[in-house]
Amino acid sequence: MAEVKSKILIIGGTGYIGKFMVTASVRSGHPTFALIRDSTPSDPAKAKLLEDFKASGVTLLRGDLYDHESLVKAIKQVDVVISTVGFMQTADQSKILDAIKEAGNIKRFFPSEFGNDVDRAHLVEAAKPILVEKVQFRRTVEASGIPYTFVACNWFAGYFLPTLAQAGASGLPVDKVTILGDGNVKAIFVDEDDIGTYTVRSADDPRTLNKILYLRPSANTLTHNELVSLWEKKVGRTFERVYVPEEEVLKQIQEGPFQMTIILAIMHSVFIKGDHTNFEIDPSSGVEATALYPDVKYTTVDEYLNRFL
Ligand SMILES: NC(=O)c1ccc[n+]([C@@H]2O[C@H](COP(=O)([O-])OP(=O)(O)OC[C@H]3O[C@@H](n4cnc5c(N)ncnc54)[C@H](OP(=O)(O)O)[C@@H]3O)[C@@H](O)[C@H]2O)c1
Repeated sequence: MAEVKSKILIIGGTGYIGKFMVTASVRSGHPTFALIRDSTPSDPAKAKLLEDFKASGVTLLRGDLYDHESLVKAIKQVDVVISTVGFMQTADQSKILDAIKEAGNIKRFFPSEFGNDVDRAHLVEAAKPILVEKVQFRRTVEASGIPYTFVACNWFAGYFLPTLAQAGASGLPVDKVTILGDGNVKAIFVDEDDIGTYTVRSADDPRTLNKILYLRPSANTLTHNELVSLWEKKVGRTFERVYVPEEEVLKQIQEGPFQMTIILAIMHSVFIKGDHTNFEIDPSSGVEATALYPDVKYTTVDEYLNRFL
């Protein structure tokens, strides 16, 4: 008998990571649904995205996080809900939980996480609120009894590789490259298409039920120094490496504008504290995606950087 693919609803499918979830779901042969706000098509780029979704067979459902009836109606039509709402709406995802409880048919819920393991992160005080909400929402999901998977995909490649992971930079290095700390702490970069593929792949997998799905592709686990060396080899030249000591990073976090505080705090957590790689996965609560799905051919950082040549 052919395997039955669950029906997947993405809430936030027109967002940065959400669109990769939608396309991965379609690519994997799942009947795919996206919850779309009335206001979304007023953005021309999003209107085009919606046309692409429709052309690829996605069912668009009108709805809003703050419209309970619309959520229940959408959720009743599917088996799996993936939320990719922005981090400012982490706590408001309780509205999705309420609707899932009322609908009563959901086999798996993926809250909007898609970062590092928030229970193990060392984020400096100034940026703690973004972490605390995600931690609290984990506890709410666990207590709800709704089957879940938390995806700890580590860094979106497209967010960090175009600047070679330099804090606050707008492009690739010209002559100098800024490195926080000593540059010898391993970070993990994952192509957004692969984040979609692994997330969707885990939706019907009993091994990921009520677990954290970590994405740790070994070829994409690099120190900042290794990343810079990889790029230097490709372009056939070297850059002056400017190392910023932790005390200076902490000072900039305290004194900078809010946006920069957040960026620097995230980079401090990963490049100095090592929050992507400073722990072993606890098998009672977590599984690793490339081990579960060795047939997925993920994009390596090496391949990703070729796009910039
Ligand atoms: N690991 C990393 O490197 C990294 C980087 C960035 C973000 N993240 C994480 O990824 C997750 C998603 O963030 P993102 O940046 O992809 O989000 P985003 O681009 O801001 O997208 C948010 C989505 O939520 C939708 N939305 C907003 N308000 C809504 C409402 N009231 N009802 C229904 N939908 C609504 C938006 O719809 P419209 O299109 O209508 O506005 C959009 O589709 C977050 O948890 C964030 O922390 C991780």
